[in-house]
Amino acid sequence: MRVFIAGIDGYLGFPLALHLRARGHEVAGADLLLRRDWVAEVGGISALPIASYADRLRAWQDRFGDSLDFRIGDLTDYAFVRDFFAEFQPETVVHLGQMPSAPYSMMDQAHCVWTQRNNVVNNLNLLWAIKEVAPDAHLVKLGTMGEYGTPGLDIPEGFFEVEFRGRKDRLPFPRQAGSWYHQSKVHDSHNTHFAAKIWGIRATDIMQGVVFGAQLPEMDADPRLRTRLDFDQCFGTAINRFCCQAVIGHPLTVFGLGRQKRGFLPLIDSVTCLRLALENPPEPGEYRVFNQFENAYTIEELAQLVQSVANEIGLRAPIKRYDNPRTEQEEHYYQPDREHLLRLGYQPTRDMGAVVRAMLLDLQAHRERIETHADALIPDIRWDGERRRSTPLGPQTSRREAQPPSVPPTSQGEASTGYPLRPDGEGLGEGFAPDISGES
Ligand SMILES: NC(=O)c1ccc[n+]([C@@H]2O[C@H](COP(=O)([O-])OP(=O)(O)OC[C@H]3O[C@@H](n4cnc5c(N)ncnc54)[C@H](O)[C@@H]3O)[C@@H](O)[C@H]2O)c1
Repeated sequence: MRVFIAGIDGYLGFPLALHLRARGHEVAGADLLLRRDWVAEVGGISALPIASYADRLRAWQDRFGDSLDFRIGDLTDYAFVRDFFAEFQPETVVHLGQMPSAPYSMMDQAHCVWTQRNNVVNNLNLLWAIKEVAPDAHLVKLGTMGEYGTPGLDIPEGFFEVEFRGRKDRLPFPRQAGSWYHQSKVHDSHNTHFAAKIWGIRATDIMQGVVFGAQLPEMDADPRLRTRLDFDQCFGTAINRFCCQAVIGHPLTVFGLGRQKRGFLPLIDSVTCLRLALENPPEPGEYRVFNQFENAYTIEELAQLVQSVANEIGLRAPIKRYDNPRTEQEEHYYQPDREHLLRLGYQPTRDMGAVVRAMLLDLQAHRERIETHADALIPDIRWDGERRRSTPLGPQTSRREAQPPSVPPTSQGEASTGYPLRPDGEGLGEGFAPDISGES
């Protein structure tokens, strides 16, 4: 199958390209290499070194014996997208090419507006290019479980039956997104559903959980084929951040009570599910929604998992709770469905500990990259619009009960990260604090 990947240079995009090519699909893709700039902008770096654009292309040639049609271009430039589609004639378009971080979108007016413009416009451009030059193509659009928010009801896959004033209907399940970034994905869902309805486009809207890990069998042979792994407050996702913290002896930073529950899945499951979705396309005009995650966990559970695996390999990994920079429910009901992918043959990775262990072992060789950028580990982007560094909470203190920060502000008006907080470990690790930054 000819598969176009929008966002092919990203954390998920490049591994997906490898996974699909290794299974015989023909792959092409576009990216403006923005993720590399965003991470640098917020003071981060990929903990695992990644190859340049040119080296990725050379490694692909060496691995598969053919060249990858990976063009640097802007998805908000309609002529670029349409012309590429006209030439490549994709049968599937996997849309990963958006800005994926909630905190980045919450930074200020400029980052909010840029995020929504970038994300909404490039999704519209892909929809228009499908309509105009590849009308039979199937759009596999990456949304996020964060579109749903945390309602006090079970979360179905996209649609639910409602009875209101004696009448029944099947309607889109309400979206209650928790950041400007997540709101951009809600707009995409509405636009994609509408395009399927009016133009007969085939569309799968993937409500994906938070992805972690960086290993795929296809990468083993060549380090130039690796994907990135970020740990900064914007682009590091929860388990990835915990693992990076563990290898440098930084406490695992849990925000608030740590009882926020979310869906998570390892990288291998993410690319496998996307392949299953594209190999089983919907009918023309069908808009379907898949909830894509291995299982739902509280942040507290994940911190404990990372801590226990880290302990097994000789890392201490204390857990420390920080005041939560986000406005969100810290304790809530959470029961999302995930039946559609299971029906297509998805077999969730059961051994999360093995994935965490592989990640920790990998990261140990690169600990100096994390140490030199440790300042990026503690968030200072807050949902109330302020920039103030999160500070440690007492073991059982909830956000509402939290005392004013005990760490004095620096001359920039921010509290110090406090890293390393307590090298002897005293006072660390008793309480739990969730950290759900990143996809985000
Ligand atoms: N990683 C996760 O945990 C996760 C979870 C749920 C959903 N998602 C979604 O999956 C998708 C991929 O996520 P990711 O983690 O790989 O993010 P990523 O930032 O690594 O990948 C996105 C890629 O899109 C590119 N891009 C963005 N705007 C562009 C534009 N205008 N033109 C060209 N290229 C552009 C970026 O340069 C980047 O390489 C995103 O839509 C994200 O919201 C990710």
